[in-house]
Amino acid sequence: MVNVLVVGSGGREHAISWKLASSDLIENVFTAPGNGGTIQNVDLSVDDIEGLAEFAKEKNCFTVIGPEAPLAAGIVDFFNERNLPVFGPSKDAAQLESSKIWAKEFMKRNSIPTTNFKIFDDAEQAKEFVKSYEKSVVIKADGLASGKGVIVCNDVDEANNAIDKILIENAFGDAGSKIIIEDRIDGVEASYIALCDGKIAIPMATSQDHKRIFDEDKGPNTGGMGAYSPTPVIDESLSVEIQEKIIDKTITSMKKEGIEFRGFLYAGIMIKDDKPFVLEYNVRMGDPECQPILMRLDSDFYKYLHAASEGKLNKLPPISWKNDYSVCVVLASKGYPGSYKIGDPISGFDKIPSSSFIFHAGTKNVNGIIESNGGRVLGVTALGSTLQSAIQNAYSASEKIQWDNKFQRNDIGKKGLSFL
Ligand code: GLY
Repeated sequence: MVNVLVVGSGGREHAISWKLASSDLIENVFTAPGNGGTIQNVDLSVDDIEGLAEFAKEKNCFTVIGPEAPLAAGIVDFFNERNLPVFGPSKDAAQLESSKIWAKEFMKRNSIPTTNFKIFDDAEQAKEFVKSYEKSVVIKADGLASGKGVIVCNDVDEANNAIDKILIENAFGDAGSKIIIEDRIDGVEASYIALCDGKIAIPMATSQDHKRIFDEDKGPNTGGMGAYSPTPVIDESLSVEIQEKIIDKTITSMKKEGIEFRGFLYAGIMIKDDKPFVLEYNVRMGDPECQPILMRLDSDFYKYLHAASEGKLNKLPPISWKNDYSVCVVLASKGYPGSYKIGDPISGFDKIPSSSFIFHAGTKNVNGIIESNGGRVLGVTALGSTLQSAIQNAYSASEKIQWDNKFQRNDIGKKGLSFL
């Protein structure tokens, strides 16, 4: 029997901890720092790399890293140097997410489909370029900016404001010392996540996120207000094309450049005229995509993560998935992604049907009462034999959960229905 340490505190880490706990091979699942829903929390923050390594050593843990920040800081290298078993990409491999410029140049030199781009560190030069450029653009801060560093611009004024915000006002600090200006393509977005062991990449189930705060994809971007899996937006032939031209190409090109990618590789895909383009890479599971994906997973998750960490995915059979659809509706604090109140007691957990599961994110257990403690609070996740029934099941479970400042989108999964 093995102990596992899951690093992180969001809905993704609750889902990872929950799924690992169902493995017959696992004795204890610790989550650091965890949230109000995770069972055995360890009071260590995700950037306390030494503390996490000490804990993993003392408890003899296999460690799974959830979020990007510790990956970008080199937590996996730190564990590897101490022979502590760990799942996640190295600091070098994590550059695919930690530097958008690195990722774009990598894609360009390896002919991985993405949009045209230019790099700037000078606001005036960036504005000159935008003024004379005839296409709509997206402006991105180079480094990690908690999902807020991507600004989709409708006109030159918006582009100039984005340039000022990142390069002059330093809204993202060092993460915005350089920007990318890239062509904007308007198509359909989907998430394609693969499990990689440095040599091969096996696809996880497909999914689609809902990044904007309001229904019909209106309002500012958030970390994700809901997701469902699988998504009909990616059909069989598109899936093969993404796997070959993007995922496999990324892994083999990384290897050719001397970097083994072990971990989850997430390609944010834009589909335009049936062709996939990489909008961005992430080097981890998506949040909230992880929640509906793991709800559908039938295989032993631990076996796959462990094999990936050892470069032995080729020894395992294909991953097995439930045929059901799964939908995750994020319940957020009113005001998110701006300012919001925390500390509201949440009720209704005892009324949730067994076909649904509530993944906690921004929650805290205060003497047995679950309180809101963040922007994205809960991910109500449900299965259904059709996408429509999974949507209905997720929303009927969501209604049972109440607190004073609860906010949700009411159209999660709906955009998938038109593709069926
Ligand atoms: N759901 C998007 C992300 O995890 O970055």
